Amino acid sequence: MDAIVLLRSQHRDVEKLFKAVDKGDLSVVPEICAALEEHARIEEDVFYPAVRDEVPDEMSTVLESLEEHLIVKRLVSELQGMDPDDDAYEAKATVLAENVRHHVREEEDELFPAVRSTLGRKRLAELAELMQRDAVRA
Ligand SMILES: [Fe+2]
Repeated sequence: MDAIVLLRSQHRDVEKLFKAVDKGDLSVVPEICAALEEHARIEEDVFYPAVRDEVPDEMSTVLESLEEHLIVKRLVSELQGMDPDDDAYEAKATVLAENVRHHVREEEDELFPAVRSTLGRKRLAELAELMQRDAVRA
């Protein structure tokens, strides 16, 4: 495993679920919320701290990502506390999709390539290991 491969595969999983939302299927929203909570947690606990310490040029991208996580987490917790029949439920899910798609693009276009070229294969494997352990602990 490799930290970036792991994070990208989580991005693909959540994108697939958002496609269902695009088609009006809101039954997947709880699954999306759970997946995003998990994804944000392993990024915040393991990946971002490593990037801050070891890829200092990407510090500002990490800070931006953390701000985006705050918005995503707020939307997730609002959706989790809402009745799916509420008029605002679909609107909130759509705004969540837009935010997450932006976040994914930014990470995959800017952050991940810079991290990959700086950290190297061995360190990325170590980070994947730490992230998987972090996920189990939850
Ligand atoms: Fe991410």
